Amino acid sequence: MYTKKVMDHFVNPRNMGVLENADGVGTVGNAKCGDIMRIYLKVEDEVIKDVAFKTFGCGAAVATSSIATELVKGKTIKEALKITNDAVVEALDGLPKAKIHCSLLAEEAVHAALWDYSKKHNIKIEGLKEPKADIHDEDIENMEEA
Ligand code: FES
Repeated sequence: MYTKKVMDHFVNPRNMGVLENADGVGTVGNAKCGDIMRIYLKVEDEVIKDVAFKTFGCGAAVATSSIATELVKGKTIKEALKITNDAVVEALDGLPKAKIHCSLLAEEAVHAALWDYSKKHNIKIEGLKEPKADIHDEDIENMEEA
């Protein structure tokens, strides 16, 4: 059902954890499956210098967050914005149809973190839209306690 790459990123997730003093933090969720993903970004001179993630979700959500952090690390903000969920799926050598929404969560989490960065630093990022709030406050609280 899952490719070797998905299994590898699920069993050995890259960049998992919390980034203290992150420049941008984005938390998104899928109301249907209840999974939550958070991405932390450290940005210097418009380049994503460091990235970390915390995900409460299915194996595909962990794998997509992990690969998304690898895809955006070292990229400029503009380049990171172009990384869509299709690119995430491709980098994992595919995902089952029922798990495509997990990759969408990864794209949304990166965008939400960039949005947070742009707000905190009063910067306008061309082409970046405000993330939709598809997440409940109590879910975020549960995540923060974990
Ligand atoms: Fe919803 Fe994976 S099942 S994010």
